[in-house]
Amino acid sequence: MCADHAGQRPDYAARRGALRSLLVENGVDALLVTDLVNLRYLTGFTGSNAALLVHSWDMRNAEDRTVICTDGRYQTQVAEQVPDLRAEIAKATARRIVELAGEWQLGRIGYESHIVTVDQHRGFIEQCTGLEFVATPGLVEQLRMVKDAYEIAQLTAACAAGDAGLATLLERGLLRPGRTEKQVARDLEWAMFEHGAEAVSFDTIVAAGVNSAVPHHRPTDAVLATGDFVKLDFGALIGGYHSDMTRTLVLGKPSDWQREVYALVEASQRAGREALRPGVKVDEVDAASRSVIEAAGHGKLFVHGLGHGVGLQIHEAPGIAKNGTGTLLAGVAVTVEPGVYFPGRGGVRIEDTLVVREGGPELLTNTSKDLTVVE
Ligand code: GLY
Ligand code: MN
Ligand code: MN
Repeated sequence: MCADHAGQRPDYAARRGALRSLLVENGVDALLVTDLVNLRYLTGFTGSNAALLVHSWDMRNAEDRTVICTDGRYQTQVAEQVPDLRAEIAKATARRIVELAGEWQLGRIGYESHIVTVDQHRGFIEQCTGLEFVATPGLVEQLRMVKDAYEIAQLTAACAAGDAGLATLLERGLLRPGRTEKQVARDLEWAMFEHGAEAVSFDTIVAAGVNSAVPHHRPTDAVLATGDFVKLDFGALIGGYHSDMTRTLVLGKPSDWQREVYALVEASQRAGREALRPGVKVDEVDAASRSVIEAAGHGKLFVHGLGHGVGLQIHEAPGIAKNGTGTLLAGVAVTVEPGVYFPGRGGVRIEDTLVVREGGPELLTNTSKDLTVVE
């Protein structure tokens, strides 16, 4: 068995095969894919304009009639990235796909109703009266929740770049009183690039002192001071896959209040991680973690959901929240990120990226969760 999936090409045909089963279940003859992330998942294409038609017919020629359309800028790229599918070149990509579906007299065409605009939908109907367009939201997203070996390898590498970036920032003494949130953010990002990140996963959060009470604070020229909590929420992008981690550190000797709130969030985060298993309902995972904070009387200060799926997007299905629906499956990659935020005082969040497994979750974020004191 080959242990290194990082350099291999994903099995896109297998992904399209899995989608075909869902199309049959949903009673459609084909799916018009216009979401570029879903299209990348199904084909490997990374250009900025494309549409794809995946036939549901579970026949030998279903792949032959699956077609991708992009515009002239991507003629070479589509041939390289998608050598296994018929490619059409047209500026109005979805229009060309609908035209083909009409020529082939396909009956019911599923479309991504959570992505397609009202105007686009009207355009499809006006263009091709012989077809019936059926709203089929979230089908590819459903498949994307469970990661294959290739995807886990990319996520593992992205999480390792995040861990190593933070370690390098601390080793170089770049997180210290007197530096600004913006300087720390840029140095952390640079360190992740040095450890293989191709880009950052999202805008890096560095929040010091009272700013740590703002869950998604944007780095400013605020100067770090002794006694501050410093909350760092950041991630690396590798092979299209995002990592996501948060650590909250203290500059100088922590106060009793800081130790207390940190220990509370750490216990909540552990409870959330321990609740991850195949078959568990997502709202039960949220409750396992949230109840720890509620029992301490701070439930109102945990102002967001517990976590989210992560993969080709930084935030993807499943959402792990109080009102979340659905159950987890083995192979789903998620974050667990409780926080407690005292407005005007400071806050703590601790976040890891993990994969749900039969024998217990696989932790991809390996930085210690003990309270780090920066002297
Ligand atoms: N920073 C985005 C998140 O943690 O979800
Ligand atoms: Mn995060
Ligand atoms: Mn997150």
